[in-house]
Amino acid sequence: PCSQNLAEKVVAWQRTSGRHHLPWQNTQDPYRVWLSEIMLQQTQVATVLGYYERFLERFPTVKDLAAAEQDEVMPYWAGLGYYARARNLHRCAQEVMEKWGGRFPGNATDLATLPGIGRSTACAIAAFCFGERSPIMDGNVKRVFTRYFGIYGPTQKKAVENTLWAKADEVVELAPASLDMAAYTQGLMDLGSQCCTRSKPTCSLCPLQSNCYAHTHQAQSELPSPKER
Ligand code: ADE
Ligand code: SF4
Repeated sequence: PCSQNLAEKVVAWQRTSGRHHLPWQNTQDPYRVWLSEIMLQQTQVATVLGYYERFLERFPTVKDLAAAEQDEVMPYWAGLGYYARARNLHRCAQEVMEKWGGRFPGNATDLATLPGIGRSTACAIAAFCFGERSPIMDGNVKRVFTRYFGIYGPTQKKAVENTLWAKADEVVELAPASLDMAAYTQGLMDLGSQCCTRSKPTCSLCPLQSNCYAHTHQAQSELPSPKER
């Protein structure tokens, strides 16, 4: 497995085979991108679509959301589950108004200080909205990277997590300065959901096949390693 050219392969594949018409792909508005990423953290795309449109119709800007009462927000979230997310969503909007003058901060480090925004989500927003060279490492990408690089051990373990982030950084560092970070980020997500699926990945359609550890060793079913019990 090799980090060189990985990012460019993912971008080329994203252009021909990835998703292009999701509503949050047509915007670089951090509010809209942030909302989509929070909704998508634990909920499928197909479910999120309707909630996303209704939510934005009622709360078109971060200002509208911050000004609402928590009780007004909940009905627009009901059904998505994980209500801590909705509470953090509202707190985050208020913090953007109070601490950042109503504009989301323009880099991943500052975004990650906001309620409900972890490192990977901060990096996704920064890549999509500002083209920042900040790689993501969500559940989908962990699956692609553990398989491609042959990284064993439960991905919840700090040491494994650190190895994954180091690989993610390396891939971006080795990519040309012209790398389209939005396409790369979306491409990793699309690859994880369309090709490198949990069971029976379709390696024959994957742009990473020729260098992939799991494909070479037929180890797809043992990576990522199961949680220790
Ligand atoms: N899951 C998390 N972020 C996503 C995105 N931008 N598009 C599709 N699925 C996602
Ligand atoms: Fe995943 Fe198969 Fe692609 Fe390897 S070749 S990254 S296992 S889909």
